[in-house]
Amino acid sequence: MPNIVVVGTQWGDEGKGKIVDLLTEQARVVVRYQGGNNAGHTLVVGGEKFIFHLIPSGILHPGTMCCLGNGVVLDPAVFLGEIDRLQSRGVKVGPENLRVSERTQVIMPYHQRLDLARERAKGAGKIGTTGRGIGPCYEDKVARRGIRVADLVDPQLLKAKLTEVLPEKNFLLEKLLGDKPFTFEEIFAPYEKFGQRLKPLMANVSIILHEAAKHGKNILFEGAQGTHLDIDHGTYPFVTSSNPVAGGAATGCGIGPKALHRVLGIVKAYTTRVGGGPFPTECLDSIGDHMVEVGQEFGSTTGRRRRCGWLDLVVLQESARLNGLTGLAITKLDVLSTLDPVRICVAYEVDGQRRDSMPPTLAELERCRPVFEDLPGWQEDISGVRRVQDLPANTRTYLKRLEELAGVPIQVVSVGPDREETIVVQNPFA
Ligand code: IMP
Repeated sequence: MPNIVVVGTQWGDEGKGKIVDLLTEQARVVVRYQGGNNAGHTLVVGGEKFIFHLIPSGILHPGTMCCLGNGVVLDPAVFLGEIDRLQSRGVKVGPENLRVSERTQVIMPYHQRLDLARERAKGAGKIGTTGRGIGPCYEDKVARRGIRVADLVDPQLLKAKLTEVLPEKNFLLEKLLGDKPFTFEEIFAPYEKFGQRLKPLMANVSIILHEAAKHGKNILFEGAQGTHLDIDHGTYPFVTSSNPVAGGAATGCGIGPKALHRVLGIVKAYTTRVGGGPFPTECLDSIGDHMVEVGQEFGSTTGRRRRCGWLDLVVLQESARLNGLTGLAITKLDVLSTLDPVRICVAYEVDGQRRDSMPPTLAELERCRPVFEDLPGWQEDISGVRRVQDLPANTRTYLKRLEELAGVPIQVVSVGPDREETIVVQNPFA
């Protein structure tokens, strides 16, 4: 069976959680390769609601090994809290089904305080981060002063690293950003305890994946955020600080690119974005309100109202190229029911010129005007449909046009939030 990378093709919140949950039934190992608790998804299983920020939802499937790769940034309090909540609800969690890489970077309390203080200092020009300390943690990784899980579990190492790094953080907090400094003890004491709890879960995730692949066990690589929030390829600087693109799976968990057999791109049937940054197809009218209300577009991590707009094929074509997409999963198609016409942005117009790719600078991106193709809408409730051929003719036309423009086959269509409200056109694992 092949390995699959699941990536968001837009600006995150495409509904990856539901598709990953669906595919996990067929996967033996599920691994996250980037991001941290800036991500989040809610799953309803057997009438019970579970919210995950770090642990792959595969943890609910007995016999599935869940891993966090070296490319992830881990807030230990959040991670251990998720474990506690799962255990209190009778879900078995331990080294037999959950492992974290010894090389994973740890989000420290000063990362979060710096994140919030920097956003405050930026005022109107803020990125709109989730305030979880993600950016400052990745900064320390690249600056070679980060604390990794292997350091956290060793009190002597933790002490040495914290002693080295804390004066600089306190200087920034106090002198540059006018915030409160930390004492050594207020961090060391709780983080040493976190380290001891994490110790049994620490592993070389690269070896686990390598062994799984050797024995023909298939692996699901779970991306967080989305392609256009990628630090290299997204709408910089309104991006996150990691590489959600499929290539990030190789560096983010220590496996060669040959093991990334297929790449499934998750595409919401319209577009959403949280936080600041350019958004050419944004609808600031009653259509945007319809998408927010019917699609329940509020963040599962921060509760923020998401910005909404029409599907953008410039964005999707770029994602197909950057990720090497082999299949698409279309989510929330039901939300478009009753809208007429249904619009697809097929190109941009910038300063009177047509453009088929995203410009690199913010100034140009902000001047991009969408060129729309209008398709007839449909009035029917499609949430009960389980086969493509049973969808209304106009819905099929919309999907066909989307597939044609993207140049990638549609494999899954989601028509409602429940697990059963799904049309599998072609099993991505087949
Ligand atoms: P950060 O990842 O918290 O640094 O936030 C940087 C940008 O990425 C902000 O615009 C966030 O709103 C956005 N972002 C981060 N994580 C997610 C996510 O899971 N879904 C959607 N947007 C996200």
